[in-house]
Amino acid sequence: MSDLSNKHIVLGLSGGIACYKAAELCRSLIKAGASVQVVMTEAAAQFITPVTLQALSNRPVYVSQWDGREPNNMAHINLSRNADAIVVAPASADFMAKLLHGRTDDLLSLMCLARPMERVPLVLAPAMNREMWQHPATQRNVTQLRADGAHVLDVGQGEQACGETGDGRMLEPEEILEDLVAFFQPKALQGQHVLVTAGPTFEAIDPVRGITNLSSGKMGFAIARAAREAGAEVTLVAGPVHQATPRGVRRVDVRSALDMQAAVTQYVDQATVFVATAAVADWRLASVATQKIKKYGSGQLPQMQFTENPDILASVAKSERAQNGALFCVGFAAESHDLLAHATAKRARKGVPLLVGNIGPATFGLDDNALLLVDAQGSQELPHASKLSLARQLVAEIARRRS
Ligand code: CTP
Repeated sequence: MSDLSNKHIVLGLSGGIACYKAAELCRSLIKAGASVQVVMTEAAAQFITPVTLQALSNRPVYVSQWDGREPNNMAHINLSRNADAIVVAPASADFMAKLLHGRTDDLLSLMCLARPMERVPLVLAPAMNREMWQHPATQRNVTQLRADGAHVLDVGQGEQACGETGDGRMLEPEEILEDLVAFFQPKALQGQHVLVTAGPTFEAIDPVRGITNLSSGKMGFAIARAAREAGAEVTLVAGPVHQATPRGVRRVDVRSALDMQAAVTQYVDQATVFVATAAVADWRLASVATQKIKKYGSGQLPQMQFTENPDILASVAKSERAQNGALFCVGFAAESHDLLAHATAKRARKGVPLLVGNIGPATFGLDDNALLLVDAQGSQELPHASKLSLARQLVAEIARRRS
């Protein structure tokens, strides 16, 4: 099941150089499972041809409200009624100003005004020069458009086609896609603040060596993304991993278990949900060599003394807020065998209401997994699926227990 399966999107293009990115967006929407009807303004057709978008969307593109291809000559009604959203990307400053006033002198603005507001949301991806974006008129329009029910996406930051640098670029197609997928997810965690730990920790031996493990961080990152999609504010404390930060998530990078504990301590007071997916190293060196330990061909083995790392989850679970229910704690257990028995014992040992078990060697580094949820009532399997799909199911389970 793709992220936008069964969704029909009207992709509107207004005039701006970012129209070239709309071609890629059209492709991405279709790859994500959506069907796409493209509608362009005359100005957009100056930047990219309808032929390109017709080829990509596999449907005729509409530009004019006088298009005779519709038997009743009402393209604005016919094309908007079965849409799950109208996404205008790029939304130019002029187009937004026009929407604000409810003006309808082209097909796209006509469709935006004529759409049934309660079931066809309007999503705008603004794109313009930085001065235009910062102008009080544009900012006022954005505020009013939001108040009128439009979902206005952020703008990107950086080098602009005009040669200037600043805020106002259209988001990249993959960013718009991620925001759109999030837009359609149920907002089950609205108002919650979710703190997630993810990835391995790295415990230094000396300045060039250390001890770590095979955790990729993918499950924790998927949970952070799913929680954000569900409307939560999300802080993700990540050990050393190579994962892209999910959109809208605050990421705090750490290295060792002690760093991770310090970051968790810093953010846990604002959290209402704590999900510990990190594979925290159980031990660290009692003392880290300040210089590289040399071999010098002596054949002697280095002597290493270990000390136990703090159990971050167990200590958070003991806190007053966790005990009185203000903070809901979720632990993970990566086991190699006897999952139910180990997960049940670990839930009791860590003192958490919900423990999620998985078979570590079967999932480390992969994009899919299977989970076993263990709580006071018993256990429930979430069968084999992508980590993102499982993360969304887990988020729904957490939300159910929070409400
Ligand atoms: N955890 C933690 N801090 C630690 C160790 C573990 O916060 N120092 C958290 C993990 O993020 C996970 C849960 O505790 O949510 C269980 O981790 P796991 O490594 O499976 O458990 P351990 O306590 O290390 O138990 P064991 O090694 O005996 O399986």
